[in-house]
Amino acid sequence: MKNNKILVVANWKMNPETAEKAAEIFQETNKAVKNLKNTKVVVCPPFVYLSELEKINNSKVILGAQDMFWEKTGSFTGEISSVMLKGESYVILGHSERRELGETDEMVAKKVVSACQSGLKPILCIGEKERDAHGEYLHFLHNQIVSSLAKLSQKYLSNLVIAYEPVWAIGKGEGGAMKPADIHETSIFIKKVLTGIYNQKDATTVPIIYGGSVNYKNAKEMITLGEVQGLLVGRESLSSKKFGELLKNVD
Ligand code: PGA
Repeated sequence: MKNNKILVVANWKMNPETAEKAAEIFQETNKAVKNLKNTKVVVCPPFVYLSELEKINNSKVILGAQDMFWEKTGSFTGEISSVMLKGESYVILGHSERRELGETDEMVAKKVVSACQSGLKPILCIGEKERDAHGEYLHFLHNQIVSSLAKLSQKYLSNLVIAYEPVWAIGKGEGGAMKPADIHETSIFIKKVLTGIYNQKDATTVPIIYGGSVNYKNAKEMITLGEVQGLLVGRESLSSKKFGELLKNVD
C-alpha cells in the first residue's frame, strides 16, 4: 500500500564544511521544494547546522537528523538524544557508514525504540554488503531487519520508514545504482519479512525507500519501476541544481 506522497530524504552526511555553505544549499533546496505537489522532502544536515537551518526554513522542508543515542540524558560524551531532537521529526538510524564504525543491530534496535518513544520517525537503514548467486544476502537482510526491529512493538510501526540501501551501491555515482527491477523485488522481500514480525495490514503500510547512487536522471524510474515509496539521496542532495532537478523529476 502506498503512502500518498513520495518521501525524498537528503542525507548530507558530514557536509558541507561551513554553516554559510549549509545555509546556501538549504535556501536553494527551499526554493526547489516550493512548487512540489506530490513529494515530501526531509533534509538531514550535521547536528550543528540544524537550529540555524530551522530558522531559515520556509516550512515545507522537514529537517531531520542523521543519528541519535538511545538514552534520553546522562553521561554519554559526544552523544545526542531523541529528547534533544524532538523538534526534528525524522532521524536516520543504522546507516551503513555508522555500522562500519561498529554500530550493531542491537544498538540500532535500542535507537529505533527510543526515537519512536519521543515521537520521532526513524528511517531505519538496512542493506547487504554484496550480492551472491545463492541468495545468502536474503538471509542477511532478513536477520538485519528482525534484529534491528527486535524491540519495536506494533504500536510504533506507523512511525517507521525503512531505507533499503545496498552498501555496494552507495556513493558509486553514475551507473552505480541498483536496477529498478531488483529494487522492486527486494522491497517485496522486505515487506514479507515485516509481515512475519507484525500484523500484515500494518506491515504493508511501512514506507520503503531506496538509497544508493540516486541521481536526477535515475530517480524517477526508481520510484515508478522500483515501486518504492521514496528515496534516500546522499551526494546528489548537496548539489542544489541537481537536487532541484531530481525533485522535479520525482514529483
Ligand atoms: P549516495 O549516498 O546517494 O551518495 O550513494 C546514499 C546514502 O549513503 O545514504
